[in-house]
Amino acid sequence: MSETPTPGRPVIGVSIIVPTYCEAQNIPVLFERLAGAMAGIAWEMIVVDDDSPDGTAGVAFALAQTDSRIRCVRRVNRMGLAGAAIEGFLSSSASFVALIDGDLQHDESILPLMFAALSGGKGNLAIATRVAPGESVERGFTPARQRLSDIGAWVFRKASDLAIADPMSGFFMIRREIVARIASRMSPDGFKPLVDILLAERGALSVVEIPYVFRPRLAGESKLSAQVGLDFLGLLAHHASGGVLPSRFVLFALIGGLGLFVHLGVLKALLTVWGSDSFAASQLIATLTAMTSNFLLNNEITYRSTRYRGFSKLWGLTLFALLCSVGVVANIDIASWMYAFKQVWWVAGFSGALVGVVWNYAVSSAFVWRKRRA
Ligand code: GDD
Ligand code: MN
Repeated sequence: MSETPTPGRPVIGVSIIVPTYCEAQNIPVLFERLAGAMAGIAWEMIVVDDDSPDGTAGVAFALAQTDSRIRCVRRVNRMGLAGAAIEGFLSSSASFVALIDGDLQHDESILPLMFAALSGGKGNLAIATRVAPGESVERGFTPARQRLSDIGAWVFRKASDLAIADPMSGFFMIRREIVARIASRMSPDGFKPLVDILLAERGALSVVEIPYVFRPRLAGESKLSAQVGLDFLGLLAHHASGGVLPSRFVLFALIGGLGLFVHLGVLKALLTVWGSDSFAASQLIATLTAMTSNFLLNNEITYRSTRYRGFSKLWGLTLFALLCSVGVVANIDIASWMYAFKQVWWVAGFSGALVGVVWNYAVSSAFVWRKRRA
Protein backbone atom coordinates (compact mmCIF):
# COMPACT_ATOMS: atom_id res chain seq x y z
CA MET A 1 0.00 0.00 0.00
CA SER A 2 1.53 3.27 -1.02
CA GLU A 3 1.50 6.00 1.56
CA THR A 4 0.70 9.54 0.69
CA PRO A 5 2.86 12.06 2.52
CA THR A 6 0.96 13.95 5.21
CA PRO A 7 1.59 17.64 4.93
CA GLY A 8 2.55 19.28 8.22
CA ARG A 9 0.15 22.12 7.89
CA PRO A 10 -1.63 23.97 5.10
CA VAL A 11 0.40 26.23 2.87
CA ILE A 12 0.15 29.73 4.33
CA GLY A 13 -1.52 32.40 2.21
CA VAL A 14 -0.58 35.34 4.39
CA SER A 15 1.92 35.83 7.20
CA ILE A 16 0.93 38.60 9.56
CA ILE A 17 4.06 40.15 11.03
CA VAL A 18 3.76 41.75 14.45
CA PRO A 19 6.85 43.61 15.67
CA THR A 20 6.70 43.90 19.42
CA TYR A 21 8.42 45.64 22.24
CA CYS A 22 6.68 45.11 25.59
CA GLU A 23 3.30 43.96 24.33
CA ALA A 24 2.95 40.85 26.53
CA GLN A 25 -0.61 41.72 27.54
CA ASN A 26 -1.69 42.50 24.00
CA ILE A 27 -0.38 39.44 22.16
CA PRO A 28 -2.97 36.86 23.26
CA VAL A 29 -5.77 39.36 22.55
CA LEU A 30 -4.42 40.16 19.10
CA PHE A 31 -4.04 36.47 18.29
CA GLU A 32 -7.66 35.78 19.26
CA ARG A 33 -8.86 38.70 17.17
CA LEU A 34 -6.81 37.60 14.17
CA ALA A 35 -8.18 34.07 14.52
CA GLY A 36 -11.68 35.56 14.41
CA ALA A 37 -11.01 37.89 11.51
CA MET A 38 -9.03 35.47 9.34
CA ALA A 39 -11.49 32.56 9.40
CA GLY A 40 -11.36 30.76 6.06
CA ILE A 41 -7.91 32.06 5.10
CA ALA A 42 -4.66 30.11 5.63
CA TRP A 43 -2.76 32.57 7.80
CA GLU A 44 -0.11 32.73 10.47
CA MET A 45 0.99 35.37 12.95
CA ILE A 46 4.71 35.98 13.33
CA VAL A 47 5.70 37.94 16.41
CA VAL A 48 9.13 39.55 16.05
CA ASP A 49 10.15 40.58 19.53
CA ASP A 50 13.28 42.47 20.51
CA ASP A 51 13.78 40.57 23.74
CA SER A 52 11.22 42.66 25.63
CA PRO A 53 11.81 42.70 29.39
CA ASP A 54 8.08 42.10 29.97
CA GLY A 55 8.37 38.61 28.49
CA THR A 56 6.44 39.20 25.25
CA ALA A 57 8.43 36.49 23.45
CA GLY A 58 7.69 33.99 26.21
CA VAL A 59 3.96 34.68 25.87
CA ALA A 60 4.16 34.17 22.10
CA PHE A 61 6.18 30.96 22.39
CA ALA A 62 3.71 29.60 24.96
CA LEU A 63 0.85 30.29 22.55
CA ALA A 64 2.82 28.65 19.75
CA GLN A 65 2.94 25.43 21.77
CA THR A 66 -0.82 25.25 21.66
CA ASP A 67 -1.50 26.58 18.16
CA SER A 68 0.62 26.31 15.02
CA ARG A 69 -0.83 29.51 13.57
CA ILE A 70 1.54 31.58 15.69
CA ARG A 71 5.34 31.69 15.58
CA CYS A 72 7.81 33.95 17.26
CA VAL A 73 11.21 35.29 16.27
CA ARG A 74 13.06 36.52 19.33
CA ARG A 75 15.82 38.93 18.38
CA VAL A 76 18.59 39.64 20.84
CA ASN A 77 20.99 42.57 20.85
CA ARG A 78 18.96 44.29 18.18
CA MET A 79 16.31 46.96 18.28
CA GLY A 80 13.92 48.69 16.01
CA LEU A 81 10.49 48.44 14.47
CA ALA A 82 11.52 48.49 10.80
CA GLY A 83 14.33 45.98 11.27
CA ALA A 84 11.96 43.64 13.10
CA ALA A 85 9.39 43.99 10.30
CA ILE A 86 11.99 43.16 7.66
CA GLU A 87 13.13 40.04 9.53
CA GLY A 88 9.53 38.96 9.90
CA PHE A 89 8.96 39.39 6.17
CA LEU A 90 12.09 37.40 5.42
CA SER A 91 11.04 34.53 7.68
CA SER A 92 7.80 34.03 5.75
CA SER A 93 7.21 31.71 2.81
CA ALA A 94 3.65 32.88 2.14
CA SER A 95 2.49 34.64 -1.02
CA PHE A 96 1.58 37.73 0.99
CA VAL A 97 2.92 39.37 4.12
CA ALA A 98 1.14 41.90 6.29
CA LEU A 99 2.48 44.24 8.95
CA ILE A 100 0.34 45.17 11.93
CA ASP A 101 1.14 46.76 15.29
CA GLY A 102 0.96 44.55 18.34
CA ASP A 103 -0.90 47.06 20.49
CA LEU A 104 -4.39 46.59 19.00
CA GLN A 105 -4.51 50.11 17.53
CA HIS A 106 -4.91 48.74 14.02
CA ASP A 107 -8.27 47.29 13.04
CA GLU A 108 -7.53 43.67 12.14
CA SER A 109 -11.03 43.16 10.73
CA ILE A 110 -9.97 44.73 7.41
CA LEU A 111 -7.20 42.16 6.82
CA PRO A 112 -9.53 39.86 4.82
CA LEU A 113 -10.40 42.83 2.57
CA MET A 114 -6.72 43.50 2.02
CA PHE A 115 -6.10 39.83 1.30
CA ALA A 116 -9.05 39.63 -1.10
CA ALA A 117 -7.83 42.71 -2.98
CA LEU A 118 -4.32 41.34 -3.42
CA SER A 119 -5.14 37.72 -4.08
CA GLY A 120 -7.86 38.90 -6.49
CA GLY A 121 -5.18 40.75 -8.48
CA LYS A 122 -6.42 44.29 -7.72
CA GLY A 123 -2.91 45.36 -6.71
CA ASN A 124 0.30 44.19 -5.12
CA LEU A 125 0.25 46.47 -2.06
CA ALA A 126 -2.76 47.13 0.17
CA ILE A 127 -2.40 50.03 2.59
CA ALA A 128 -4.72 50.38 5.57
CA THR A 129 -5.44 54.10 5.57
CA ARG A 130 -6.38 55.85 8.79
CA VAL A 131 -9.52 57.95 8.51
CA ALA A 132 -11.31 60.18 10.96
CA PRO A 133 -14.37 58.38 12.27
CA GLY A 134 -16.41 61.59 12.52
CA GLU A 135 -16.46 64.60 14.77
CA SER A 136 -17.81 63.01 17.89
CA VAL A 137 -15.46 60.05 18.14
CA GLU A 138 -11.94 60.25 19.55
CA ARG A 139 -9.13 59.37 17.20
CA GLY A 140 -6.38 57.18 18.54
CA PHE A 141 -3.91 59.99 17.98
CA THR A 142 -2.96 63.06 20.00
CA PRO A 143 -3.54 66.30 18.00
CA ALA A 144 0.20 67.05 17.82
CA ARG A 145 0.92 63.56 16.54
CA GLN A 146 -1.88 63.94 14.01
CA ARG A 147 -0.49 67.23 12.70
CA LEU A 148 2.99 65.76 12.38
CA SER A 149 1.60 62.81 10.50
CA ASP A 150 -0.38 65.08 8.13
CA ILE A 151 2.67 67.23 7.39
CA GLY A 152 4.73 64.10 6.79
CA ALA A 153 2.14 62.74 4.37
CA TRP A 154 2.07 66.04 2.51
CA VAL A 155 5.88 66.19 2.22
CA PHE A 156 5.87 62.58 1.08
CA ARG A 157 3.39 63.29 -1.72
CA LYS A 158 5.40 66.33 -2.87
CA ALA A 159 8.73 64.52 -2.74
CA SER A 160 7.67 61.20 -4.24
CA ASP A 161 4.93 62.21 -6.64
CA LEU A 162 2.89 59.30 -5.35
CA ALA A 163 -0.72 60.05 -4.46
CA ILE A 164 -0.92 57.95 -1.31
CA ALA A 165 -3.37 59.15 1.35
CA ASP A 166 -1.55 57.66 4.35
CA PRO A 167 2.06 56.79 3.55
CA MET A 168 2.87 56.86 7.29
CA SER A 169 0.60 53.92 7.93
CA GLY A 170 2.17 51.12 9.91
CA PHE A 171 -0.48 48.69 8.66
CA PHE A 172 -0.30 47.15 5.20
CA MET A 173 -0.14 43.92 3.18
CA ILE A 174 2.16 43.27 0.25
CA ARG A 175 3.14 40.51 -2.14
CA ARG A 176 6.03 38.88 -0.30
CA GLU A 177 8.23 38.58 -3.37
CA ILE A 178 8.47 42.41 -3.54
CA VAL A 179 9.84 42.90 -0.04
CA ALA A 180 12.08 39.85 -0.44
CA ARG A 181 13.63 41.53 -3.47
CA ILE A 182 14.27 44.92 -1.85
CA ALA A 183 14.95 43.79 1.73
CA SER A 184 18.69 44.39 1.59
CA ARG A 185 18.09 47.97 0.49
CA MET A 186 15.59 48.75 3.23
CA SER A 187 16.54 50.78 6.28
CA PRO A 188 16.29 48.77 9.51
CA ASP A 189 16.74 51.81 11.74
CA GLY A 190 13.50 53.61 11.28
CA PHE A 191 9.82 53.31 11.98
CA LYS A 192 8.54 53.63 8.45
CA PRO A 193 8.96 50.45 6.47
CA LEU A 194 6.05 51.47 4.24
CA VAL A 195 7.67 54.76 3.20
CA ASP A 196 10.82 52.80 2.53
CA ILE A 197 9.02 50.30 0.29
CA LEU A 198 7.10 53.03 -1.55
CA LEU A 199 10.26 55.01 -2.28
CA ALA A 200 12.29 51.96 -3.26
CA GLU A 201 9.71 50.50 -5.62
CA ARG A 202 7.73 53.53 -6.81
CA GLY A 203 6.46 52.63 -10.26
CA ALA A 204 6.39 48.87 -9.74
CA LEU A 205 3.67 49.08 -7.11
CA SER A 206 -0.03 49.05 -7.69
CA VAL A 207 -1.60 50.30 -4.51
CA VAL A 208 -5.02 49.62 -3.04
CA GLU A 209 -6.00 51.80 -0.08
CA ILE A 210 -8.43 50.47 2.48
CA PRO A 211 -9.79 52.84 5.14
CA TYR A 212 -10.09 52.02 8.83
CA VAL A 213 -10.34 53.83 12.14
CA PHE A 214 -7.13 53.97 14.22
CA ARG A 215 -7.90 52.98 17.81
CA PRO A 216 -6.46 54.42 21.00
CA ARG A 217 -3.81 52.30 22.71
CA LEU A 218 -5.12 50.54 25.81
CA ALA A 219 -2.15 48.74 27.39
CA GLY A 220 1.54 49.63 27.32
CA GLU A 221 2.97 52.81 25.90
CA SER A 222 3.78 54.21 22.45
CA LYS A 223 7.48 53.99 21.65
CA LEU A 224 7.58 56.44 18.80
CA SER A 225 6.15 59.90 19.48
CA ALA A 226 8.40 62.78 18.41
CA GLN A 227 10.81 60.74 16.41
CA VAL A 228 8.35 59.78 13.74
CA GLY A 229 8.60 62.93 11.63
CA LEU A 230 12.37 63.22 11.75
CA ASP A 231 12.90 59.59 11.06
CA PHE A 232 10.84 60.09 7.94
CA LEU A 233 13.03 62.98 6.76
CA GLY A 234 16.05 60.72 7.25
CA LEU A 235 14.41 58.11 5.00
CA LEU A 236 13.72 60.70 2.30
CA ALA A 237 17.39 61.73 2.33
CA HIS A 238 18.45 58.08 2.34
CA HIS A 239 16.52 57.50 -0.88
CA ALA A 240 17.55 60.83 -2.39
CA SER A 241 21.18 59.75 -1.98
CA GLY A 242 20.47 56.56 -3.93
CA GLY A 243 20.57 54.55 -0.72
CA VAL A 244 24.17 55.54 0.09
CA LEU A 245 23.54 57.49 3.29
CA PRO A 246 22.02 55.60 6.22
CA SER A 247 18.87 57.47 7.35
CA ARG A 248 20.35 57.70 10.83
CA PHE A 249 23.48 59.38 9.57
CA VAL A 250 21.35 62.12 8.04
CA LEU A 251 19.74 62.85 11.41
CA PHE A 252 23.10 62.68 13.15
CA ALA A 253 24.66 65.15 10.69
CA LEU A 254 21.67 67.52 10.96
CA ILE A 255 21.97 67.54 14.73
CA GLY A 256 25.72 68.09 14.36
CA GLY A 257 25.01 71.11 12.15
CA LEU A 258 22.60 72.46 14.73
CA GLY A 259 25.32 71.92 17.36
CA LEU A 260 27.57 74.25 15.43
CA PHE A 261 25.00 77.03 15.82
CA VAL A 262 24.61 76.24 19.51
CA HIS A 263 28.36 76.41 19.88
CA LEU A 264 28.74 79.74 18.07
CA GLY A 265 25.72 81.21 19.85
CA VAL A 266 27.03 80.35 23.31
CA LEU A 267 30.54 81.50 22.41
CA LYS A 268 29.25 84.84 21.15
CA ALA A 269 27.08 85.34 24.25
CA LEU A 270 29.92 84.56 26.66
CA LEU A 271 32.39 86.76 24.82
CA THR A 272 29.87 89.60 24.94
CA VAL A 273 29.37 89.18 28.69
CA TRP A 274 32.91 88.32 29.78
CA GLY A 275 34.99 90.15 27.16
CA SER A 276 37.52 88.76 24.71
CA ASP A 277 40.07 87.89 27.43
CA SER A 278 37.87 84.99 28.36
CA PHE A 279 38.15 83.29 24.95
CA ALA A 280 39.61 79.99 26.17
CA ALA A 281 37.05 79.59 28.97
CA SER A 282 34.19 80.69 26.69
CA GLN A 283 35.28 78.28 23.98
CA LEU A 284 35.42 75.43 26.50
CA ILE A 285 31.94 76.14 27.84
CA ALA A 286 30.56 76.53 24.31
CA THR A 287 32.09 73.17 23.35
CA LEU A 288 30.63 71.41 26.38
CA THR A 289 27.22 72.97 25.82
CA ALA A 290 27.15 71.93 22.18
CA MET A 291 28.29 68.39 23.04
CA THR A 292 25.60 68.11 25.67
CA SER A 293 22.87 69.39 23.39
CA ASN A 294 24.08 67.09 20.60
CA PHE A 295 24.05 64.15 22.99
CA LEU A 296 20.56 64.90 24.26
CA LEU A 297 19.11 65.43 20.77
CA ASN A 298 20.71 62.27 19.41
CA ASN A 299 19.51 60.43 22.46
CA GLU A 300 15.92 61.56 21.92
CA ILE A 301 15.85 61.41 18.13
CA THR A 302 18.56 59.54 16.25
CA TYR A 303 18.98 56.70 18.72
CA ARG A 304 15.64 56.89 20.44
CA SER A 305 15.02 53.17 20.34
CA THR A 306 18.16 52.54 22.39
CA ARG A 307 18.16 55.74 24.40
CA TYR A 308 19.62 56.36 27.83
CA ARG A 309 17.10 57.15 30.51
CA GLY A 310 17.46 58.83 33.90
CA PHE A 311 20.88 58.94 35.47
CA SER A 312 22.43 56.64 32.89
CA LYS A 313 22.37 59.69 30.59
CA LEU A 314 25.41 60.99 32.48
CA TRP A 315 27.37 57.89 31.58
CA GLY A 316 26.21 58.11 27.96
CA LEU A 317 27.18 61.76 27.77
CA THR A 318 30.65 61.05 29.19
CA LEU A 319 31.24 58.28 26.67
CA PHE A 320 29.93 60.45 23.84
CA ALA A 321 32.13 63.41 24.85
CA LEU A 322 35.27 61.26 25.17
CA LEU A 323 34.81 59.52 21.83
CA CYS A 324 33.82 62.71 20.02
CA SER A 325 36.91 64.53 21.27
CA VAL A 326 38.92 62.04 19.21
CA GLY A 327 36.76 63.16 16.28
CA VAL A 328 37.65 66.78 16.99
CA VAL A 329 41.37 65.99 16.91
CA ALA A 330 40.99 64.07 13.65
CA ASN A 331 38.93 66.90 12.19
CA ILE A 332 41.54 69.54 13.04
CA ASP A 333 44.44 67.33 11.90
CA ILE A 334 42.90 66.63 8.52
CA ALA A 335 41.87 70.23 7.96
CA SER A 336 45.32 71.59 8.93
CA TRP A 337 47.07 69.01 6.78
CA MET A 338 44.95 69.84 3.74
CA TYR A 339 45.37 73.53 4.37
CA ALA A 340 49.16 73.08 4.57
CA PHE A 341 49.00 71.49 1.13
CA LYS A 342 47.47 74.69 -0.20
CA GLN A 343 43.87 73.56 -0.37
CA VAL A 344 41.26 76.29 -0.41
CA TRP A 345 40.34 77.12 3.22
CA TRP A 346 36.74 75.99 2.96
CA VAL A 347 37.61 72.71 1.24
CA ALA A 348 40.07 71.99 4.05
CA GLY A 349 37.55 73.03 6.69
CA PHE A 350 34.73 71.04 5.13
CA SER A 351 36.85 67.90 4.74
CA GLY A 352 37.90 68.10 8.36
CA ALA A 353 34.30 68.50 9.48
CA LEU A 354 33.23 65.60 7.27
CA VAL A 355 35.83 63.27 8.74
CA GLY A 356 34.77 64.46 12.20
CA VAL A 357 31.08 63.77 11.66
CA VAL A 358 31.70 60.36 10.06
CA TRP A 359 33.91 59.40 13.00
CA ASN A 360 31.42 60.66 15.55
CA TYR A 361 28.60 58.82 13.83
CA ALA A 362 30.57 55.58 13.65
CA VAL A 363 31.59 55.60 17.31
CA SER A 364 28.17 56.75 18.47
CA SER A 365 26.44 53.92 16.62
CA ALA A 366 29.01 51.32 17.60
CA PHE A 367 29.72 52.26 21.20
CA VAL A 368 27.54 54.96 22.72
CA TRP A 369 24.03 53.84 21.77
CA ARG A 370 24.86 50.25 21.06
CA LYS A 371 21.63 48.26 21.51
CA ARG A 372 20.95 49.50 25.04
CA ARG A 373 17.40 50.14 26.12
CA ALA A 374 16.35 50.78 29.67
N1 GDD B 1 10.45 44.51 17.59
C1 GDD B 1 10.26 45.81 17.90
N2 GDD B 1 11.35 46.61 18.16
N3 GDD B 1 9.00 46.31 17.93
C2 GDD B 1 8.85 47.61 18.25
C3 GDD B 1 9.92 48.48 18.55
C4 GDD B 1 11.24 47.92 18.51
O1 GDD B 1 12.24 48.58 18.76
N4 GDD B 1 9.40 49.71 18.82
C5 GDD B 1 8.07 49.61 18.69
N5 GDD B 1 7.72 48.33 18.37
C6 GDD B 1 6.38 47.77 18.15
C7 GDD B 1 5.40 48.05 19.26
O2 GDD B 1 5.45 47.07 20.27
C8 GDD B 1 4.08 48.00 18.50
O3 GDD B 1 3.64 46.68 18.31
C9 GDD B 1 4.45 48.60 17.15
O4 GDD B 1 5.86 48.41 16.99
C10 GDD B 1 4.12 50.10 17.04
O5 GDD B 1 4.75 50.78 18.09
P1 GDD B 1 3.99 51.94 18.90
O6 GDD B 1 4.94 52.41 19.92
O7 GDD B 1 2.64 51.50 19.33
O8 GDD B 1 3.86 53.00 17.72
P2 GDD B 1 2.79 54.18 17.54
O9 GDD B 1 1.41 53.72 17.84
O10 GDD B 1 3.32 55.35 18.27
O11 GDD B 1 2.95 54.44 15.94
C11 GDD B 1 2.11 53.86 14.98
O12 GDD B 1 1.71 54.82 14.07
C12 GDD B 1 2.75 55.32 13.21
C13 GDD B 1 2.15 56.33 12.29
O13 GDD B 1 2.48 57.61 12.68
C14 GDD B 1 2.82 52.71 14.24
O14 GDD B 1 1.84 52.03 13.47
C15 GDD B 1 3.89 53.16 13.29
O15 GDD B 1 4.32 52.03 12.52
C16 GDD B 1 3.33 54.20 12.39
O16 GDD B 1 4.35 54.68 11.54
MN1 MN C 1 0.73 52.12 18.82
